[in-house]
Amino acid sequence: MNYYNPLLLTPGPTPVPDQILYATQLPMVGHRSSDFEAIAEQAFKALKPVFGSENEVMILTSSGTSVLEASMLNIANPEEDIVIIVSGAFGNRFKQIAEAYYDNVHIFEVEWGQAVNIPDFIDFLKSLKRDITAVFSQYCETSTAVLHPVQELGTALRNFDQDIYFVVDGVSCIGAVDVDLNRDNIDVLVSGSQKAIMLPPGLGFVAYNDRAKARFSQVTTPRFYLDLNKYLKSLTENSTPFTPNVSLFRGVNAYANLINEEGLDQVIARHYAIRDALRQALNALDLELLVQDAYASPTVTAFVPKSKDELDYIKNELKKRFAITIAGGQGHLKGQILRIGHMGQISPFDILQVVSALEILLTEFRNESYVGKAITQYMEVVKAYV
Ligand SMILES: Cc1ncc(COP(=O)(O)O)c(C=O)c1O
Repeated sequence: MNYYNPLLLTPGPTPVPDQILYATQLPMVGHRSSDFEAIAEQAFKALKPVFGSENEVMILTSSGTSVLEASMLNIANPEEDIVIIVSGAFGNRFKQIAEAYYDNVHIFEVEWGQAVNIPDFIDFLKSLKRDITAVFSQYCETSTAVLHPVQELGTALRNFDQDIYFVVDGVSCIGAVDVDLNRDNIDVLVSGSQKAIMLPPGLGFVAYNDRAKARFSQVTTPRFYLDLNKYLKSLTENSTPFTPNVSLFRGVNAYANLINEEGLDQVIARHYAIRDALRQALNALDLELLVQDAYASPTVTAFVPKSKDELDYIKNELKKRFAITIAGGQGHLKGQILRIGHMGQISPFDILQVVSALEILLTEFRNESYVGKAITQYMEVVKAYV
């Protein structure tokens, strides 16, 4: 019998707080009723601070990939040139979407595990000698646990050419990072429900500035369900163009209440404290970190076990004996790295469980005692935070 409470530490989906679960299970209401209008009005507004947006945030009933696709189809015309920063599996997702619709797609490859080097990227844009319509990047590249320097990138891009639209995939970090569309020169910022926003999967979010909003109505790329103009029009009527996931909209409002209680700044600080503590702990366990400190995401941490056998042992035993689920690598990093998600409703003491379980597993596997080593390092960082 397994007597541990299951602990879901994948970089999404993430544990759903009871308050959100409760809200999502309330009796159904008609989506064309005043009941739903009240829910929607609150939800569109509630997400503004989380996305650092002056405009109300659009909510689509579909997964994160749909809003990646929507962000592209509503910003660039089919014949226009677009640039994609590819630094992992989700950069590749943007690339695949682009190749389905566009002929003039330019890829800036970044080594997996590294952050974009901004001067090199600007040089790349110059070398294209093309009129670029939009640049697409991840904020957190979930597959490598890199947090790109989006604020600096936005500024550099604006200084290079202020007409370029900057579109950011924040699926795996919005809700855990300090973002501001104006300050960071982001035109469109998308995210999904099942990560730091702590909802079950099923909603996509689109934040945008006024310039992007105006652009959506000028673009001619064919789209139907993903035509953001439809969502913008409905938003003014506290509604949605198609049947929404009413339950998850209620979940958005329950999420906002939780964030308001804790305070968004505190939520963000908690994520960074856990990141820093976990990195110390992994160092103490002689586990190599994939990403350097400067670009380490506050929502997911990737590490490199010493061998494939050690990797399998950690992942399988964590699950079998301790009921802890973590994630493997994606693409060519599959079988090379493990990833611990630490976003949403995660306290420093939840992560302490995985740290202490890792001490036991590595003591067994390497036949060398790690007991107490990592948790001491971990608590040294956490004590300054709590
Ligand atoms: C950064 C990033 N972008 C996009 C996606 C795709 O989202 P979904 O799987 O909800 O379609 C994910 C999912 O993990 C992600 O982490």
